[in-house]
Amino acid sequence: MRRAVKLRLLRALQSQGFGSRKDCLYRLRRGEIRVNGEVCDNPEAEFETEGLVFTVDGADWPYRECACLVMHKPAGYECSHKPSHHPSVFSLLPTPLVRRKVQCVGRLDQDTTGLLVFTDDGQLQHRMISPKKNVPKRYRADCAEDVTDAQLDALRAGVQLNDEPAPLAALACEPCGARGLRLVLAEGKYHQVKRMIAAAGNHVVALHREAIGDYRLPDDLAPGGWRWLDADDRNKLEQPWPSAKS
Ligand code: URA
Repeated sequence: MRRAVKLRLLRALQSQGFGSRKDCLYRLRRGEIRVNGEVCDNPEAEFETEGLVFTVDGADWPYRECACLVMHKPAGYECSHKPSHHPSVFSLLPTPLVRRKVQCVGRLDQDTTGLLVFTDDGQLQHRMISPKKNVPKRYRADCAEDVTDAQLDALRAGVQLNDEPAPLAALACEPCGARGLRLVLAEGKYHQVKRMIAAAGNHVVALHREAIGDYRLPDDLAPGGWRWLDADDRNKLEQPWPSAKS
């Protein structure tokens, strides 16, 4: 059962990323913010957070204690607040989400597409990333050369990467057409899929993350689009291998 929590309006607005105390006060006084459908200009008014909805700039924003969302990352975007050569994935999110400091859970390379999770919940982030939690990340890789049985065997048995103390093995690895493969990894090391496939003797030309845990990138989420995750979806994101149906 959920705990009933009451918050003062100004504090609630700030927590949802609608700006500094000064910005929120200014907007409240101008009557620019609706609370549960009604204009409210009293920053001290108290509201139950359960079911609370703000309307700001014409958009509805249900109150969320923690933010957790997924994006279909397009190619050509960097997972950094300070990108060096390409625009940032954060430029694809609305300002309140960036202000409340959602972070990417496990970065994707600028040319990788697919499932990218953002949250401001540090514990969820830890549970998804930590190799000890064994949360599978499933990728589809297109390779430059035909994928051989020897390469699949090497990826399943483990390949040695520079700077790694021990070989890294895929949790699962299946061919997908002559030059494609599906690979499931427990870790999220730097360029891990590309480096593992290179170590096995091939070369990745396109990479797409399809799923994390039991959560699959929704088919109807277009590249560049994002959506909130509900509690069931969040639970799916944390399902460890091998119970996850990746
Ligand atoms: N492995 C890679 O090589 N690149 C990614 O973007 C993700 C996993």
